[in-house]
Amino acid sequence: MGREQESKPAALFFSTSLSDAEFAAIAKRVREWTGISLSPEKKALVVSRLSRRLRELGIPSFRTYLQHLDTDADEVDRFIDLMTTNETHFFREGHHFQILAGWARERCREPLTIWSAAASTGEEAYTIAMVLAEECGVTAPWSVVATDIALKVLAIGERGRYPIERAKEIPPHYLKRYFLRGVGNQTGWMRVVEALRQKVRWQRLNLVEFDPQRMGRFDAVFLRNVLIYFDPPTKAEVVRRVLTTLKEGGMLFLGHAETLTPGDFPLQSVAPTVYRKCLSAE
Ligand SMILES: C[S@@+](CC[C@H](N)C(=O)[O-])C[C@H]1O[C@@H](n2cnc3c(N)ncnc32)[C@H](O)[C@@H]1O
Repeated sequence: MGREQESKPAALFFSTSLSDAEFAAIAKRVREWTGISLSPEKKALVVSRLSRRLRELGIPSFRTYLQHLDTDADEVDRFIDLMTTNETHFFREGHHFQILAGWARERCREPLTIWSAAASTGEEAYTIAMVLAEECGVTAPWSVVATDIALKVLAIGERGRYPIERAKEIPPHYLKRYFLRGVGNQTGWMRVVEALRQKVRWQRLNLVEFDPQRMGRFDAVFLRNVLIYFDPPTKAEVVRRVLTTLKEGGMLFLGHAETLTPGDFPLQSVAPTVYRKCLSAE
């Protein structure tokens, strides 16, 4: 027995129990760094997302991990990657892209810049790009800016490579024109064609602390399925800042659960969750 113990490496003891005080400390940092509000019901989610990271680092408890976070800036990036929910898909909320297509069709000669403001792994930005390429041509003077707070998803988006199963989200004629199927060691993957990838610029951006004056001006903004993570004052502040970047008459697209009261902002309602910035708003 004694000999067996000697020959095995010492096992690190991991405690995956998270006290209320530790959860509160984690939620405080998430809020400070991302604006995301974590209610106490999210405790199990936090445990499941962080436990693996603790193991990877060989850190035995959440208390020690919190100390580590305060001294390691790179770990803050990993923490943000883990604490954000990045679910997305191509052509999500399809009616938005029908409206975008009709709107773009009439403006193909103008330089159009569209912002995908919580782009996650890029499906939204590339859907916008496919619709604009289809309506105006890939060489027309439009471009897409894709931003997110999480570095991991930005890297995936910039690469533009997705598992082949995701093809079912994309109408066949778009798939044929704008994706290449991987072969050899890329079997099982598909990649956005280079001409389209070049139309999308990637940038890290935190919606709760960016400077709208340094962002340029957009003809349309997709701010979808991110406001739901913020409390009402934070949500209002983010919308206010984003609207500063939107041109007069520009379009704002929100997620299906993120309606605004147009009277609270200089917006006219165009369709459910689609707004236009009022002409007199500048
Ligand atoms: C559920 S995804 C939405 C993706 C896409 N817009 C869609 O509707 O399919 C939410 C994204 O918001 C990002 N996010 C959360 N807080 C953010 C913040 N403060 N600034 C920028 N992005 C943030 C997350 O990293 C995540 O990728």
